[in-house]
Amino acid sequence: MGLRDRLKGALKRAGGRSGPNAAEPSTIQRRTAARRDLPDAPDADGYVAVAAASLLAEGKGTTFRVHGTNVAIYRVGGTLHAIDDACTHEDGPLGEGDLDGMVVTCPYHDWRFDVSTGACLTDETRPVSCFAVRERDGFIWVGSKVREGTDARGGEHDDGLKTRLVE
Ligand code: FES
Repeated sequence: MGLRDRLKGALKRAGGRSGPNAAEPSTIQRRTAARRDLPDAPDADGYVAVAAASLLAEGKGTTFRVHGTNVAIYRVGGTLHAIDDACTHEDGPLGEGDLDGMVVTCPYHDWRFDVSTGACLTDETRPVSCFAVRERDGFIWVGSKVREGTDARGGEHDDGLKTRLVE
């Protein structure tokens, strides 16, 4: 069986059933259904609904496309926080980073950010932007930018590789 057949099989399984109980909807099916129910117009304050609130678990991050920007949203202690998904080091996907309390670690080179303020804990000159976010009527809503981050990119990182001088 080739790679293409294995991928097709995996996609079919992911979309067709979930876990040991085939009657339960899969994650893909739940997300698709939730997306169908999303309000398609901004609310009176200009917030845009991006997902059913139940899709974002405590201590997790997820990325949504809002007005042309990828926004990473996290739920910490029941409160939502939204920052620009693009890491200010080299645009790594912060929504896929590990979350420890309020601190997310970029999956690429481990730069760390406070999701409640956008502050970069690795380089204080490199904050990310923050967005207004709230939960209402069973949905997550994203508003406008409330704190501006930097556009600068690049900088030092520890890639974990050990080097040895050869003379
Ligand atoms: S891209 Fe995020 S730490 Fe390098």
